[in-house]
Amino acid sequence: MDRRSWYIIIHPMRFTGKGHGKVILMGEHAVVYGEPAIGMHLERGITVSLGVPSRGSPGKNLAHLDDRGREAFVAAARAVGVDPARFRLTVASRLPVGQGLGSSAALSVAASRALLRAAGETLDDARVLDVAQVLEKVFHGTPSGIDATIALGKGPVFYRKGAPPEPILVGAPIPVVVLLSGTSPSTKAMVERVRRRREGDGPGTDRILGEIGALVTEARELIRAGSLEGLGRAMDENHRLLERLGVSTDGLESLVAAARRAGALGAKLTGGGGGGAVISLAGDGRHAREIMKTLNLGPNSFMTMVQTPAGGAP
Ligand code: PMV
Repeated sequence: MDRRSWYIIIHPMRFTGKGHGKVILMGEHAVVYGEPAIGMHLERGITVSLGVPSRGSPGKNLAHLDDRGREAFVAAARAVGVDPARFRLTVASRLPVGQGLGSSAALSVAASRALLRAAGETLDDARVLDVAQVLEKVFHGTPSGIDATIALGKGPVFYRKGAPPEPILVGAPIPVVVLLSGTSPSTKAMVERVRRRREGDGPGTDRILGEIGALVTEARELIRAGSLEGLGRAMDENHRLLERLGVSTDGLESLVAAARRAGALGAKLTGGGGGGAVISLAGDGRHAREIMKTLNLGPNSFMTMVQTPAGGAP
């Protein structure tokens, strides 16, 4: 008897689903003004399990979620025709919250997959995304869908506002070391800062945003060709432009500098800036582990290997 069937016999009513975390590889902020961006999934993510409800204390069935999470889960359960009271939900997360790593989209995709399994549906990606968007709408109002698409874990995507995300076929696995600054950013405040900068100095800021867009388009080709050195240089350049936009911080600058000193091929802030995380690129898995060892940040750094999984694109 294989392990899977053994598992099913012990837990006859357990349905699980995983959603991946994400980082923006390049193009943040410029994407707000119509330029492209590239996002990619992290191996780390969130797993939702739907098991047997607790007897006698049904109020505890959704105790792993906060009020917003409960509202989102109940809406998604209804959307797939499952009675949420049938299950006790548990959430296991390996994603730091509030660091711009896409934890809400990861939770949405994980819950969607678990619910669709509970409903006896096949896990077609388009259907998983539809149900995940029910949760994302509760979390974010009008989500673009980019975060949830990446949370499927199907490799990097090239994204431009108003167009469907395009999967990128990865030419060589991309080893990325994620460094956490420990401070929680406000993406909204950073987007507002760029907006004000643009109002004050339109052409200058637009030039920077356009340069970021051009780098993103170049990066897509470098990813397809498996050129990590070229990608590292493009990331460095993207970071320099983000710094000029005013969204970096002393903490992020020192992490970027430390990653480069430790031998990274490139390093930049990821997401809105003002705190959050830095990503740095390594040549291969061993190189990534060396960078982590040199930086010695303990649980504030981890590695992820980005590739297009077999059978891959969303
Ligand atoms: O901080 P994150 O990972 O949610 O990324 C924000 C990306 C921005 O381009 C700064 C804002 C946006 O809505 O695209």
